[in-house]
Amino acid sequence: MDKAKLIIDDQTHELDIVVGTEGERAIDISNLRTETGLITSDSGFKSTGSTRSAITFLDGENGVLRYRGYPIEQLAEKSSFLEVAYLLIYGDLPNATELENFTYGVTRHTLIHEDMKKFYEGYPAKAHPMGILASMISALSTFYPEAQKSDLSPKEVDITVKRLIAKIATISAWSYKKSMGLPIMYPQNRLSYCGNFLHMMFALPTEDYEVNPVIEKALNTLLILHADHEQNCSTSTVRMAGSSHASLYAAISSGVCALWGPLHGGANQEVIEMLEKIQAEGGDVKKMVEKAKDKESSFRLMGFGHRVYKNFDPRAKIIKEVCDEVLDDLGIDDPLLDIAKSLEEVALSDSYFVDRKLYPNVDFYSGILYRAMGIPTEMFTVMFSMGRLPGWIAQWKEMRDNNEPISRPRQVYVGANERPYVDLKNRK
Ligand code: CMC
Repeated sequence: MDKAKLIIDDQTHELDIVVGTEGERAIDISNLRTETGLITSDSGFKSTGSTRSAITFLDGENGVLRYRGYPIEQLAEKSSFLEVAYLLIYGDLPNATELENFTYGVTRHTLIHEDMKKFYEGYPAKAHPMGILASMISALSTFYPEAQKSDLSPKEVDITVKRLIAKIATISAWSYKKSMGLPIMYPQNRLSYCGNFLHMMFALPTEDYEVNPVIEKALNTLLILHADHEQNCSTSTVRMAGSSHASLYAAISSGVCALWGPLHGGANQEVIEMLEKIQAEGGDVKKMVEKAKDKESSFRLMGFGHRVYKNFDPRAKIIKEVCDEVLDDLGIDDPLLDIAKSLEEVALSDSYFVDRKLYPNVDFYSGILYRAMGIPTEMFTVMFSMGRLPGWIAQWKEMRDNNEPISRPRQVYVGANERPYVDLKNRK
């Protein structure tokens, strides 16, 4: 095994170099503190590998993304979301019987407990659907308390997995209906996973609703593209929360909350708001690019840049193509798409973005696609959550199957040294 040498105060310590199946190398520092008394310091975990994972391979320099070895481009073109979910969670593509059983298992859990319907009455009309989603997923644990056991059998894990994948679609669609003050629609199990979601979102009891196959296919692609992305902020949150042996429901709810932020999954909503602002101010993309470059302003070009991609985000490439096709098929002429394209062109010919390797990420075009599908802006991050759910589950399962220890990073303390307590009357 290759070794790295670390010299501290004239003492040399040898550390193992771990090599992944794609040749990635990492220094194993797990015994560093015991052997040297030192820890490492790496704010934002920019150079820290938190685990050894066999789920997703990502090469940010070359724009490569693979789930369980399969290129994202092939999965997006040929697969279904439930097939990809199975692949991520169980490690291999399902055969026909396995896929049929998995699909059947998910489909028969699409209803949520009738008592949960009452929760929707308690949220304010303007509640953000991500807040509803996180709390409803957490609430699922109260309906299935047996899932809180630390030592779940594989069968018990499987049923929780199916419940989560099935119910997230119902919970999400109902949160939209709640925000619109419209009656909820029950799931239709004769429909596909994506078709059923669209039905619950857009059907009304007063009229017939036919799922548009173009939209159904586009949604399938979007969910696949979002399904996993190795140790990102929300996934690390799921693994970390789950490492305390909190239930899968609790861990997933934590992941939803982490995804919500504008630097992560919340960026898709911010992209559309940014494009709308450009449009409202006359369409001057250069002004927005200048603002993003200005270090006096905290503004960033939303949908640009990525912690790991220093090249085109392969997901963004696919979404851009699907976006053109879907808008064409549906006969939609969205001026925001033209603004997005000129923004991309201006940014990618600007040395600020070129030097920092800031390319459009998955969120840059996904919002335009969601708009074309009729999904409101506030629901974009919920859609991301639905897509990311199988990845979160797979990562949680891997962490538990590998008996990983509780996550508990250390810190370098930079606060006050010891000082005596000052009585209130003596304080300035
Ligand atoms: N607009 C302007 N400048 C940027 C941007 C941006 N979108 N992104 C990064 N930079 C600059 C940043 O100011 C810094 O400049 P300097 O070296 O002069 O200080 C440099 O590029 C490196 O940025 P960083 O903040 O150190 O990079 P990071 O890896 O910590 O952040 C990021 C990654 C995604 C949070 C960041 O690029 C960003 O805020 N992008 C906008 C939000 C966004 O689109 N998020 C969605 C990410 S994709 C979906 C997902 O997987 O979550």
